[in-house]
This record gives sequence, structure tokens and C-alpha cells, in this order.
Amino acid sequence: MNVGFVGAGTVGTALALTLSSRGYRVVAVSSRTPASAELLASQVPGCRALPTAQAVAQATDLVFITTPDAAIGEVASQINWRQGQMAVHCSGADSLDILDPARSQGALPGAFHPLQSFASPAQAVENLPGSYFALEGEEPLLGTLKEMAVALGGRQVILHPGDKVLYHAAAVLVSNYTVALMGMANDLWQVFGVSPEESTRALLPLLQGTLNNIAKLGLPCCLTGPIARGDTGTIHKHLLALVSAAPVLVPAYRELGLRTIPVALAKGKIDQERANTMQALLQGY
Ligand SMILES: NC(=O)c1ccc[n+]([C@@H]2O[C@H](COP(=O)([O-])OP(=O)(O)OC[C@H]3O[C@@H](n4cnc5c(N)ncnc54)[C@H](OP(=O)(O)O)[C@@H]3O)[C@@H](O)[C@H]2O)c1
Repeated sequence: MNVGFVGAGTVGTALALTLSSRGYRVVAVSSRTPASAELLASQVPGCRALPTAQAVAQATDLVFITTPDAAIGEVASQINWRQGQMAVHCSGADSLDILDPARSQGALPGAFHPLQSFASPAQAVENLPGSYFALEGEEPLLGTLKEMAVALGGRQVILHPGDKVLYHAAAVLVSNYTVALMGMANDLWQVFGVSPEESTRALLPLLQGTLNNIAKLGLPCCLTGPIARGDTGTIHKHLLALVSAAPVLVPAYRELGLRTIPVALAKGKIDQERANTMQALLQGY
């Protein structure tokens, strides 16, 4: 099976490099900017940079469309697909319908979303092994995508039509919004005169310790802190201080606190009465 890529960015480059290193024949790539395709091809043995998506499709059996999400449908519609050819995108939010231009010509549409945050190709190559891959598609393509996920050292979750948007919202919550939480914490440290760089350095071991606790103990046992202990006085102090120094952060603190109470209840260190008291306190702000 010959594999090709349209879109030589972070994910395309990382997948091309890792699939090639696991024995897949990655033979062709094109991109909006020829230099991007040439850079990818120069790193993958036997891979050629081609001028168009159509040329990649002609040279391959499975085409990964690794452009930004907004361009996937446009690329799919630029190609004359062969019957049974495989058209695969890597979007986390989009399902198979954006590949309808390929499906309507007899190609098999699929999705192969690495559940990982990739800031650069090198970092992506490092983080890919062990990641989960969300797969969509029908056999025989689904079996091919499962084999690829295993070859990349990953695991898989099979999604069905309608699952994708919630799946992606969950990914945004744990990945992107953790970054936003670090940003909010940095803002608070700046109130008492510590730079964002230093507060990130200071808070990172805490975040890493929390991740270790989630990994080792799981929910709800990993939860610590005032809500887990039912420490209403401390939560009240936080709210008063936030109202005075950083009122813009109060809604996020309140909402996340309210979402933390059920986890604390499940852990079993607080009873329903204490949970109700904390809920009323948070809802009052
Ligand atoms: N980054 C992540 O963390 C991540 C994680 C999981 C999944 N994904 C998914 O992976 C896909 C690619 O994301 P990415 O982060 O790799 O994006 P990216 O780094 O921006 O790369 C996209 C590449 O596609 C090229 N391109 C843009 N429009 C094109 C077009 N019309 N035709 C051909 N090539 C085009 C780009 O331009 P040039 O040719 O000008 O360089 C670039 O090389 C997206 O579907 C995204 O949702 C991303």
C-alpha cells in the first residue's frame, strides 16, 4: 500500500516520518507551499514532493489530507478519486461528511485523529507513541487505520457518526483549557509581583504532580484541596480575594468549583450537607 500526504505541516510531517519509520511506504506529498512538501519529502526515504494533490492521489492508495480543517473539503473535491481509494483526514472536530466529495466518487472516507497536542513536527514525533487515535470509517479502511495506530505505538477509540464534536470538546477541556488555567494562575501571581515565566516554573511541578495522581490513582481518589476536604472557610477566603484582586476570574473559579463538588462527594471525604453548603457559597458569587 502506497501512502501519500496532502498538507506538509506539523501533523502531516510527524505522521509521514513515523509511519515511514514503521515500514509504511510513504511515497508522495504535496502542500500549498512547494517548499513545505520538499522539506517533508527530504526527511522521508523514498518520498517525492509532487506539485498537486491530484498527483499525490494518482501515486498512492491511501491519501492523508493533513491540511487545516477548513481546507480538507476543498482538497477532497480537487481530486479525481479512484474506486476503493482511501481518503483520510486527521481533524478532531470534523467527521466523515467533509470527505463526501471523495465518497461520492467511490473512495473510502476515514478519520485518524491523534489525541495529542502537537506544537512542532519534532515534538509530535516524540509524543505520538502511546497516544490514542480516534478512528472513523468502514472496513476495510477501518482495519488499515487500526493497524496504523498499533504500528505507531498507540491505542484506538472507534467513533460513530455524531460522536466527534463531543469527543473534541472533551479534548479541548483537558488540553487547551489547562493552558488557560495556567494563564489565569499566572495572572494571580502577577498581582503579588511574580513574573509569568517564574510562576509557570513554580506551578508546573504542581500540575505534573496532579497529572501523576490522575494517572496513578484515577478519579475521584486523586482529588485534593479545599473542596475535597470540605473546607468552606478557605473557599470563602479565595472568593473574597478574587472579587477584590481579579474579579474577572470569579466565574471560572465558581464554575470549576461547582464541577469539583461531585468529584469530592464521590471520593467520600465530605457528606451531602457539606457539599450543599459549598454549592450555595459558590453560587452566591
Ligand atoms: N496540531 C495539533 O495538535 C493537531 C492534533 C491532532 C490533529 N490535528 C489535525 O491535523 C490536521 C493538520 O493540522 P496541523 O496542526 O498539522 O496544521 P499545520 O501545521 O497548519 O499544517 C497544515 C499544512 O497544510 C498546508 N495547507 C494549507 N492549506 C492547504 C491546501 N489548500 N492544500 C494543500 N496544503 C495546504 C499548510 O501550508 P503550507 O504548504 O503553506 O505549509 C501546512 O503545511 C488538522 O486537521 C488538525 O485538526 C492537529
